[in-house]
Amino acid sequence: MLPPLALGQHRVSPPVVLAPMAGITNVAFRQLCREQGGGLYVCEMITTRALVERNPKTLRMIAFGADERPRSLQLYGIDPEVTAAAVRMVVEEDLADHVDLNFGCPVPKVTRKGGGSALPWRRRLFARIVRAAVAAAAPAGVPVTVKMRKGIDDDHLTYVEAGLAAQDAGVAAVALHGRTAAQRYSGTADWDAIGTLKQALSVPVLGNGDIWEADDALRMVAHTGVDGVVVGRGCLGRPWLFADLAAAFAGRSDRRLPALGEVAVTMRRHAELLVDWLGDERDGCTDFRKHVAWYLKGFPVGGDLRRALAMVNGLTELDDLLGRLDPAEPFPVSTLGQPRGRTNAPGKVLLPEGWLADRDADTVPDGAELADSGG
Ligand SMILES: Cc1cc2nc3c(=O)[nH]c(=O)nc-3n(C[C@H](O)[C@H](O)[C@H](O)COP(=O)(O)O)c2cc1C
Repeated sequence: MLPPLALGQHRVSPPVVLAPMAGITNVAFRQLCREQGGGLYVCEMITTRALVERNPKTLRMIAFGADERPRSLQLYGIDPEVTAAAVRMVVEEDLADHVDLNFGCPVPKVTRKGGGSALPWRRRLFARIVRAAVAAAAPAGVPVTVKMRKGIDDDHLTYVEAGLAAQDAGVAAVALHGRTAAQRYSGTADWDAIGTLKQALSVPVLGNGDIWEADDALRMVAHTGVDGVVVGRGCLGRPWLFADLAAAFAGRSDRRLPALGEVAVTMRRHAELLVDWLGDERDGCTDFRKHVAWYLKGFPVGGDLRRALAMVNGLTELDDLLGRLDPAEPFPVSTLGQPRGRTNAPGKVLLPEGWLADRDADTVPDGAELADSGG
């Protein structure tokens, strides 16, 4: 239905992207998603400074599967020089095949310092960061993309201007989450804005926000004309959504509705992959806990068993608990199309003093370099 998405020399088919999600889209979760169908599967966000400083935890976070191509890395940077250094490191040490830049993080800790979704407002600084990344990536033919929100709030929209600036800077594509920072994850994503951006740019535009089912992706494409879609919360506890997306983009109507037994097998594999990645059974199982409620969403599973699963410490214990689930329990179709994960309420965006008054100041915000999540 849509041609493959061209990102530099890479062809992404179907044009479906797993949204970077901090704490979620590590090598383990990406493996489960990748097995379901084609697409681009983005690593969780990596802070440029932490990468350049070779923070051991950060170096572990950039692990990719042996067969993972293209290896897609998302960087969060607020300083053109540090961003350039990080991308140079990626290129020189062959750490990834694609770099995405995060300008969508709405976390108050970050915006209060001028980072994440606050940054495109400072248009000169934004353009310098993107240009620095593109210049550092170009010698290796590594495409750079930008992921952003509509703006700070409805009175301070930046997406068209920022999209054009990113295009001028040489990015391979621009992804837009159709919400402002002020909206956080509340309300519904503005697909009209995504369509507006698509009209404004000549580089590929990717649409993001509120794709809960494969058919939502088709609707978004029809509504906006985008070149591809970015899927985040819809696949939480549901890596097989990527099989549905592959089917939908191939024009097929088959959709996966796994019974609880199959879900339990996926849960077990997810935990095991996390254990392998972290190199420690307890750490892997602890990290797995956050996924339990998403996997079990809508299934009739008692509170005690849910709680025990969400406190699991080891794989044998996990096997025992999963063994108590009824494998024949059918997939709860009532959950289809329902939001998953964060839906937090809107809120005022905290910004540095004087941030809105001077769009052309381009000093690097001080202290906005934190390794926090969100987009
Ligand atoms: C738990 C979580 C972590 C996220 N982390 C990041 C991130 O590191 N980088 C980023 O650009 N966006 C991040 N996001 C935003 C998503 O990539 C995506 O833009 C957003 O969830 C909207 O898409 P959706 O409606 O398909 O979920 C995160 C979202 C969630 C729910």
